[in-house]
Amino acid sequence: MCGIIGFTGNIDSKRILIDGLESLEYRGYDSSGVSFFNEKNKVETIKCVGKVENLKKLIDKNLSISNCGIGHTRWATHGNVSIENAHPHKSGFVNLVHNGIIENYISLKDKYDIKNTISSTDTEIAAIILNKFYTETNNDPLVSISRLSKEIKGTYAFCVIFDDRPNEIFAIRKVNPLVSTISNIGSIISSDLTALIPYSKEYYIVPEDSIIKLEQYKIKFYNINNLERINLTPCELNWSNDSTMKDGYPHYMIKEIYEQPKALENTIRPHLKNHIPDFSLENITDEFLKSIDNIQIVACGTALHAGLVACNVFSPIIKIPITAYVASEYRYSEPLITKNTLVIPISQSGETVDTIASLSLAKSYGAKILSVVNVRSSTISRESDFCIFTNAGPEIAVASTKAYTVQIATLFLLFSKIAYLKNMMTIDELINFSKTLELIPQIITDTFSSDKIIKEIAKFLKFKNDCFYIGRLQDYISSLEGALKLKEISYIHTDAYAAGELKHGTIALITQGIPVIAIDTNINISSKLLSNVEEVKAREAAIILIINEKFEYKKDLAKFVVPIKDIDYRFAVFPVSIITQLIAYYTSLEKGLDVDKPRNLAKSVTVE
Ligand code: G6P
Repeated sequence: MCGIIGFTGNIDSKRILIDGLESLEYRGYDSSGVSFFNEKNKVETIKCVGKVENLKKLIDKNLSISNCGIGHTRWATHGNVSIENAHPHKSGFVNLVHNGIIENYISLKDKYDIKNTISSTDTEIAAIILNKFYTETNNDPLVSISRLSKEIKGTYAFCVIFDDRPNEIFAIRKVNPLVSTISNIGSIISSDLTALIPYSKEYYIVPEDSIIKLEQYKIKFYNINNLERINLTPCELNWSNDSTMKDGYPHYMIKEIYEQPKALENTIRPHLKNHIPDFSLENITDEFLKSIDNIQIVACGTALHAGLVACNVFSPIIKIPITAYVASEYRYSEPLITKNTLVIPISQSGETVDTIASLSLAKSYGAKILSVVNVRSSTISRESDFCIFTNAGPEIAVASTKAYTVQIATLFLLFSKIAYLKNMMTIDELINFSKTLELIPQIITDTFSSDKIIKEIAKFLKFKNDCFYIGRLQDYISSLEGALKLKEISYIHTDAYAAGELKHGTIALITQGIPVIAIDTNINISSKLLSNVEEVKAREAAIILIINEKFEYKKDLAKFVVPIKDIDYRFAVFPVSIITQLIAYYTSLEKGLDVDKPRNLAKSVTVE
């Protein structure tokens, strides 16, 4: 949450900062701001409430010439959304932007007797303390930043310019990410790679316990304790510039929905050898997989749902405990970890703070960590014993789509291999399973033809305040994910229920015209699900049925029917996801909402 950018070079820094903030905006968009040195080497600050486009308008009117500055797009944690609380924050020489939470800011306020502040943020306290240290150390940036790092508890990425040090940017981080690069226009630092992609093919991950100093064409790292120089090897950036463009689509979300066949192919293909899942790329041996007797998945949001799908499909096959945990709960629990427990953090960004904390906890209990991550070199991938990368490419829309289906595909490959190694699947069953997985990109492409009926559904949903998703087993997990997508971008209150649970309370909410979206893809329990649908239909709910094209149902049961291809129910989650993603997308569009940047949300959740 919150995006940070810094640039020092030989071209207009305001342009680079705005472009960077636009690409980081998915990390938060409550307010934004920049501080930059002008042609007289004086620092100017421009801030505003709302999206980066508002800041851009203000910056376009500013005529100063600047080659160095820092910028920030905010997801509010401490303090409401206001100009005063927007970053950068200033105290004396210090201009500072922050991503994270300073947990001890109240005691720091007391300790340093800080009384009058402009904002109600924790960040301003850091700026004030840093300025105090800076003046006390005769304006020594490294010593003062090092002292600041010893005072602060919590998570942070700070980027600082000092009034008397034109063309220099300093930064530190703990947990929250920062990456940096040198390009032919100068040096850039950012919260994540999306802002660096246009400028370079190489980048540095700023290590924790180091201070980074950016000069026009130089980046230097210092050990935060002894201030000695550190040498780092850059990493390779293999995402193309095009992959962060909308490519003619009106929104990132619809672009990313349509990218799923390709993303799945790119994820599945490198992990199959003659239709047998293969993880030699990741150095994951058969012996290791065979030895696992307990799997704990930790994740948040959509990634958690991907984990739940895999648990649901494979617990009955592998017959070992496989559980998916909400990472924000797991991190404070006392997990039962034995020598052969495998913990699987799943994360698109690889930076979700609760998932990182769960990983650290599991590690401290001695678990082996195998993560499923989309962003290379992210914290989760680095901290894991093994990491399987999903090859979805950058996902920019806040609502996750392609990351979800590639996470499920990756878990299917991994878990089917474990099942085979544990003699719970024969080689023929394994090969058939993989072959069906290989068909999924085409099945998804075919599912896009449901577009027309889904647009009709969206026109109907747009006037509703409440909606329910129901399903059983995997279709219940698809309901959870469908409900999350719909509520987060259409703001329609949507709940998901295991269909059989409705009559234990929730059915009291079913009144005439309430939309109930029922998912029915498993022939073994279709009749049970359809009975639950009858029950809500009897209370005059408006039924939207997502159903296997071959299943029988009463013709007047539903107001809308979206058929999916006849497919082994274990794989039905793929076409069903496409349908629920499109329902959410078109409903948000019908309501004229900001599809890619829904209110109050951010894509990368780097605070608790
Ligand atoms: C946020 C996003 C979700 C995402 C979740 C976990 O809430 O809005 O789309 O599923 O974080 O993110 P991760 O990067 O760990 O998959």
